[in-house]
Amino acid sequence: MIGVFDSGLGGLCALCEIHRLLPRESTVFLADRENAPYGERSESELIRLVSRDTERLALSGADRILVGCCTACTVLDKIPRELSELCTSIIEPTVREALSLTATGRIAVLCTEATKRSRIYERTALSIMPSAEAVTYAAGGLVRLVEGGMSDACIDDGGRERLSSVLSGLNLAGCDTLILGCTHFSHLERTLGDVLSIRTVSAARAGAEYFSKIIMKKSRGS
Ligand code: DGL
Repeated sequence: MIGVFDSGLGGLCALCEIHRLLPRESTVFLADRENAPYGERSESELIRLVSRDTERLALSGADRILVGCCTACTVLDKIPRELSELCTSIIEPTVREALSLTATGRIAVLCTEATKRSRIYERTALSIMPSAEAVTYAAGGLVRLVEGGMSDACIDDGGRERLSSVLSGLNLAGCDTLILGCTHFSHLERTLGDVLSIRTVSAARAGAEYFSKIIMKKSRGS
């Protein structure tokens, strides 16, 4: 069984992709809303929470876990190995997709404060393409807007204004691609692409696509 987890609604975007791409697989989803937002947690708190989330999913029968939370991915190498071995991170496939699309080699990343602090996107981009540059911007305010019910399907002019004010410090100079580096932001992918006039790459979608390929390859091999 496939497990997917997040602090909240963001992981649902990854889960929906899994249902679309692997419709015959059973899934179990965990949203740790009690401890959200993860983006405001310290590294040691994240290690504790992510260890517990993955352990819970494993105890529920998940033998493969898609980490539907970019913030959680930042500590996967620090949780017990028997748990991290079950997990697939969504960071690298997302960065690979963005780097395959950019013409300028300079990509922007919208993420949580904890993800920005970890510098995981910068490190991953450099390891794939040494000439690449990833510019990260923390927009934890967007997580709250999404948890409050804002989405592409449900946004009015007032919502667009609130969105613009959360993003007012964002400088996309020289960037032609924006990674939605927090899965919550995929709920606003169309709106963000429109408001910012930039191509977007969703970590929830790119991560789920990568994960599905692994699962399909495995089931063909077995
Ligand atoms: N959806 C999570 C992520 O991808 C984080 C949201 C939160 O701050 O809890 O990073």
